Amino acid sequence: MDSNTLLEITREFDAPLYVYDANKIESQFNRLNNAFSGVGKLRLNYAAKALSNIAVLRLMNKLGAGLDTVSIQEVKLGLMAGFQPESIIFTPNGVSLEEIEEAAALGVQINIDNLSILEQFGNKFPNIPVCIRINPHVMAGGNSNISVGHIDSKFGISIHQIPHLLRIVELTNMNINGIHMHTGSDILDIDVFLYASEILFETAKNFKNLEFIDFGSGFKVPYKAGDIETNIEELGKKLTTRFNQFCEEYGKELTLAFEPGKFLVSEAGYFLAKVNVVKQTTSTVFASVDSGFNHLIRPMLYGSNHEISNISNPKGRERYYSVVGYICETDTFGSNRRINEISEGDILCFKNAGAYCFTMASNYNSRYRPAEVLWYNGKAHLIRKRETFDDILHNQVDVQELFDKSTPKAIVK
Ligand SMILES: Cc1ncc(COP(=O)(O)O)c(C=O)c1O
Repeated sequence: MDSNTLLEITREFDAPLYVYDANKIESQFNRLNNAFSGVGKLRLNYAAKALSNIAVLRLMNKLGAGLDTVSIQEVKLGLMAGFQPESIIFTPNGVSLEEIEEAAALGVQINIDNLSILEQFGNKFPNIPVCIRINPHVMAGGNSNISVGHIDSKFGISIHQIPHLLRIVELTNMNINGIHMHTGSDILDIDVFLYASEILFETAKNFKNLEFIDFGSGFKVPYKAGDIETNIEELGKKLTTRFNQFCEEYGKELTLAFEPGKFLVSEAGYFLAKVNVVKQTTSTVFASVDSGFNHLIRPMLYGSNHEISNISNPKGRERYYSVVGYICETDTFGSNRRINEISEGDILCFKNAGAYCFTMASNYNSRYRPAEVLWYNGKAHLIRKRETFDDILHNQVDVQELFDKSTPKAIVK
């Protein structure tokens, strides 16, 4: 989206603000679809956790995506957004059997990632088909917090436990209709995918009734011009060939599934914040914005590097700034960035603000969460109102009477 449009939208809805470009989401969806056009049955399940506004879910449904969910609430949001239950996969980690049962009762595809729940679920519901999440023990991902397929990770059933898994399947007589892995986010090297895929193919041979193989996600997206990204087209070519070959060996045309989050929405998102203060210290010029890690935590959580530009003064002289928030802890968005000269009141634009940004926002420091806007068909649509003081108080129970000055105090002798 161009800066002038973003500036106009910010004038209309005020800052801080999230804006999502529906065209970019659609073009990313089509790009992934095209990369795997050689696969007979392809399924792209959008990872709702990346950005779960119901308008975005509706857009994904319209594009033809399925939905990858990790909580019963995401399942319910998906159903509200119009997804058919069979288009939703539920891939939780460490949740109770009750939550899985609730999802199963709603008719969604269940994906189980531990032997304990697998056995309990299989004993109770041998007729409900289940997918299993495998941990292939590969180290992948751009940061230790988002590397989830290695041997010390809490996710998935270890490939070394396949014999145990098979005994459970046999004893419960349950039907395994899919196998799945997700090894991490920000995976640059497609060889990591291909290597882990071989492990998944090998595992798949143990199950006779598979309908799909889900390769998870983790595609790395660019954060600035010239940045490296996962070569989706090359991955598409190589994995398609290998997948089709596997299906022949297996004797059945299976569905190839992915569950992209970042790839679909990261670059579609912009975060707009207003500069409150420009502060010159002995060594640094700080630009403090009307936001903080309560709205955009990724730089502090993962060290993610969101490009920041001054859209109020795009032709101004470039200077070095550290862009920080108003939270009463260190909340640096970017250190010593070259940005067009900043004045108080200017609007700064943070890129790659579509994935894991609003969904990780909080009310820390009793601040309001921002509004969200979807840019669709050349128009800005408000898809979430900015919070108000009522939202801060909502659900708080004020026990004022406990502390009322007129309440008699205990007598101390
Ligand atoms: C199980 C699972 N699938 C898919 C995703 C989406 O990953 P990404 O946003 O890197 O595409 C995640 C992200 O954490 C995940 O945990």
